[in-house]
Amino acid sequence: MDKRRVTDEKRLLHGGDYNPDQWLTYPDILEEDVKLMKLAHTNTFSVGIFAWAALEPEEGRYAFDWLDKVIEGIDSIGGRFILATPSGARPAWMSKAHPEVLRTDAYRRKHLHGARHNHCFSSPYYREKTQEMNRKLAERYGNHPALLMWHISNEYGGECHCDLCQENFRTFLKNKYDNDLDKLNHSWWGPFWSHTITDWEQIESPSPIGESAVHGMNLDWRRFVSHQTIDFYKSEIEPLRELTPSIPITTNFMSDNPEFVPFTGLDYSEFAKEVDVISWDAYPAWHNDWEDTATTASRTAFLNDHFYTMKNQPFLLMESTPSAVNWHDVNKAKRPGMHYLSSMQMLAHGSDSILYFQWRKSRGSSEKFHGAVVDHDRSSENRVFKEVAQLGQAMEEVSEKVTGYRRVADVAILYDVESDWALKDAQGFGLKTKHYGETLQKHYQSFWDKNIAVDIVTKEQDISAYKLLIVPMLYMMSEETAITLQTFVKNGGTLVSTYLTGLVDESDLTHMGGWLKPLRETFGIEPLETDTFYPSDKNTMVYKGFEYEIKDYATIMEAKGANVLGQYESDFYEGTPALTEHAYYEGKAYYIGARLEQRFHDAFYEELIKKMDLKPALAASHKRGVSIQSREANGMQTIFIMNFTEKTQTLTLHERVLDSQSGEYIEGDLKLKPYDVRIVEKSKEA
Ligand code: GLA
Ligand code: ZN
Repeated sequence: MDKRRVTDEKRLLHGGDYNPDQWLTYPDILEEDVKLMKLAHTNTFSVGIFAWAALEPEEGRYAFDWLDKVIEGIDSIGGRFILATPSGARPAWMSKAHPEVLRTDAYRRKHLHGARHNHCFSSPYYREKTQEMNRKLAERYGNHPALLMWHISNEYGGECHCDLCQENFRTFLKNKYDNDLDKLNHSWWGPFWSHTITDWEQIESPSPIGESAVHGMNLDWRRFVSHQTIDFYKSEIEPLRELTPSIPITTNFMSDNPEFVPFTGLDYSEFAKEVDVISWDAYPAWHNDWEDTATTASRTAFLNDHFYTMKNQPFLLMESTPSAVNWHDVNKAKRPGMHYLSSMQMLAHGSDSILYFQWRKSRGSSEKFHGAVVDHDRSSENRVFKEVAQLGQAMEEVSEKVTGYRRVADVAILYDVESDWALKDAQGFGLKTKHYGETLQKHYQSFWDKNIAVDIVTKEQDISAYKLLIVPMLYMMSEETAITLQTFVKNGGTLVSTYLTGLVDESDLTHMGGWLKPLRETFGIEPLETDTFYPSDKNTMVYKGFEYEIKDYATIMEAKGANVLGQYESDFYEGTPALTEHAYYEGKAYYIGARLEQRFHDAFYEELIKKMDLKPALAASHKRGVSIQSREANGMQTIFIMNFTEKTQTLTLHERVLDSQSGEYIEGDLKLKPYDVRIVEKSKEA
């Protein structure tokens, strides 16, 4: 089996986190679960997440019988199980007997037992114990025909500042700087506030992060935390790779919440290299009171595309809620139809699964009111259960035409987590208005609105095949990346960048002698100053006869070969360039000097889409909030048409497509009720 294709049976996965270890004294509940799983049209369950206390009740005494039975139950209905390693939480006996497993925070306070996701990633004992546990799990279940994949730990994140981690940090730095403190001091700009290091032993993790003024060190600390976490993960999977080489491995990634932007706790672009399949946990705040449903949908789409592009292959939605969560400020129930729509959106963007946190609501503790398929009423008749079952049925019907299908995009937006770290740390500009992730999502939205597929690439990925590459606010940029962008344009690509791009190098040291030469040449401009706005400050730019408002940032620049497409309308830089276009070799480079309102992005990218003849997957009229996304394989396209508005919308389809559900061909007017989804097919034009 191809390890990257967990769904080689052409079956979309439907199910989720199942925690039977909470119900071992309720045999009737466990029996009921299996019956309800069938009724819910579910087929895949992640078991064992947080079950360490049940699997090893006391040190060295293992108990697997209960898990055998649970797996038997899942198997009996033709289901598959995703087996978790339980390291996301430890049993109390372990914390008591081996306190080194407990995390130390940035204030050097040792955590007490409790909560979860709070172990030390360096602890030799914990590494040994997880390997031992994982070996036992692999020995016992590795050959089980219903085992689908490994789910390693849970939502890796956080950091530890214990002595062991400090030692590992120093070793990491010695390797990075070739044992040369001069190199480290240069990189960290050591003499600033007398921070020169004269002995490796003087180095300690930033304490607490955020208050440390040594930005080079903060950046290296983030890199170390990421490295150490991935290293722990690699240690966890050793016995699994050895005993079950053909079973794919994943760990569930997440987003930064509540902002709902790319996760910044770890460098996922590095982590992605170590997993066979990307999976992630998505909790958009549907029906919130700060943005319309279409905007929430567009931001969810962005994150899906971010995870798809990480390995350029279908991913799994590992967790989602069928109703509400319990940790948003307001935990709103999904309105009727939203569960179906929001789940279909995941499939449309490349997920081969809809999995939930959680199968059954727990009876006690902090997640007892978190949404689940089975509520405390134990009923298959309530609204949530019925909507889940309806979705499951629909997924069974479209499985063949979705599973493993790929996404294809001509446009890419570049996201860089290291730049995100550095920009968050940067003291200057607007301390509260950087909003890197959100800015990317705003650029993305203009394409989502026009149904143009977008990939979210990293600086390491191959960009040469894209027609259009958008690089907003890439604050930290190495000379190497600048040259990559230059080459992209030279070879015919269209590049868009913005204010706050290319200011510091990969050590967070500013570039000296003006903007990087490859950037100056490519964009045909010279940025001179960045003006930062108070919320009440006003300025505008006129583009193609319309006036657009500027917020937060304005780059004052000189055009040196670029055409000026927009100028500032007031202040001391009135009449100077705000938006430029530069024809460079075979390509073009645009520089958006100011943070402009969304209306501008929409107008600007609409023009570019037209000029570059970028095409949506389906020729159809366009309605704000109606999203069309496509997956394809073997010359066929499966296209999802989704209404993320509370209104009935009528689209005009300019080509004939097959309606997957009715089996009839449709063309012309297509009426979509609020939250409606239609799945259509067509063969891909050559
Ligand atoms: C995370 C965790 C789950 C659960 C959910 C609740 O995603 O992985 O265990 O706590 O949040 O939304
Ligand atoms: Zn530690």
